[in-house]
Amino acid sequence: MNQNESKPWAGRFTEATDQFVEAFTASVNFDKRLAQYDIAGSIAHATMLHRIGILDERDHAAIVQGLETIGLEIERDDFCWSVELEDVHMNIEARLTDRIGDAGKRLHTGRSRNDQVATDTRLYLRAQIDLILAELLRLRKVLVDLAEREVDTIMPGFTHLQVAQPISLGHHFMAWYEMLVRDYDRLVDCRKRVNVMPLGAAALAGTSYPLDRHLTASLLQFDRPAANSLDAVSDRDFAIEFTAVASITLMHLSRFSEELVVWTSAQFGFIGLPDAFCTGSSIMPQKKNPDVPELVRGKTGRVFGHLMSLLTLMKGQPLAYNKDNQEDKEPLFDAVDTLRNCLRAFADMVPHLQANRTALRRAALQGYATATDLADYLVRKGVPFRDAHEIVGKSVRLGIETERDLSDLTLDEFHAFSPLIEEDVYRCLTLEGSLQSRNTFGGTAPARVREAIAEARKQLEQIGMPS
Ligand code: ARG
Repeated sequence: MNQNESKPWAGRFTEATDQFVEAFTASVNFDKRLAQYDIAGSIAHATMLHRIGILDERDHAAIVQGLETIGLEIERDDFCWSVELEDVHMNIEARLTDRIGDAGKRLHTGRSRNDQVATDTRLYLRAQIDLILAELLRLRKVLVDLAEREVDTIMPGFTHLQVAQPISLGHHFMAWYEMLVRDYDRLVDCRKRVNVMPLGAAALAGTSYPLDRHLTASLLQFDRPAANSLDAVSDRDFAIEFTAVASITLMHLSRFSEELVVWTSAQFGFIGLPDAFCTGSSIMPQKKNPDVPELVRGKTGRVFGHLMSLLTLMKGQPLAYNKDNQEDKEPLFDAVDTLRNCLRAFADMVPHLQANRTALRRAALQGYATATDLADYLVRKGVPFRDAHEIVGKSVRLGIETERDLSDLTLDEFHAFSPLIEEDVYRCLTLEGSLQSRNTFGGTAPARVREAIAEARKQLEQIGMPS
């Protein structure tokens, strides 16, 4: 007896598969995640085969009903997965034949696992992208709400993590928002290249059956069938592209996380995180650690790694399908899970961020953040900018030496550096005056930030997110 009997490809073999090799080559433990998409793809394929006259009414009905029942079995976790049957496709097909007999064996007409697996993976990823887009949109929305709450909150803006100029905290949050808009747009664009159907490419060359690939594509809501059968079975650009988009998005979330970690430290004290998003220390009773941002920052690295894995997976492959491609799934699945979970954690957390307005203001007052405003004041009085820079530098040095802010220096003291400085200088040394003066489009003046928020709300409404 051929010990490979249960395997659909047993015909050509005389010896049984080595047990270790069987486990080594099997993918069912992870690709069973594709089961519902495999079933949807098979139903569409069978329906198309029926419409072109290859499957009769009875076989078609038996296949559709059988697959639907198997779908329910899998959903109920009442399905016996077998490593011997290698992957999700052969497990489901074998079960179908068990249930409905010969009709089940007709399903694979004009199809190969090569086009099947590429189709399943694309269907899976398309569904996940839609969930991720929804999560991204939720995060965008809560960020705009948060920004609106903090338009008039003044904080020090940083460059080199040194106090630079006063800004609105709402403006800072809207900077995060802008990053997410780009991430959203990139993902929408990536989806277009995911939504192309390999099915009908068969093993690599197309098939001699008169398949209607446009029909199958429309049954599965693909935009179109892939245009070249070789490319269709071997292309994994869509997985790489998704992981690249995920990497950029997570790079952004990691930057937000880094700021939250710094801002929640006692040294900064800018932001409070709700207890529900932190944990304590088993040894130091005073600790409240920003675990969620730290983990998001940490998880980013694994997705960068997946991107590198997938690029490397593809770089040496000749056309068309190679078994290497089975290795695309685990990195892709983990990239999807990680991105979704990190976005969810952020969208849940952001509405609960508590700005410590007093600490933010104090910090803005401390670092000579209005030095540029003093320089601009001098320029308005006709001093060339470079000379103004020098005058302000001297004023700041005096401030540091005597431990006072610029607004605490007397007019006499200023006059030692420039006779042009008058009483009205104190108005532009205030934080509010400084903010209001940065009134260019895209600047931090509260009126401009409100404008940006209104524009963001309009964008969200256009996408269909009630705001
Ligand atoms: N499990 C395989 C994969 O994920 C399915 C395709 C296998 N095709 C083949 N000819 N061995 O890529």
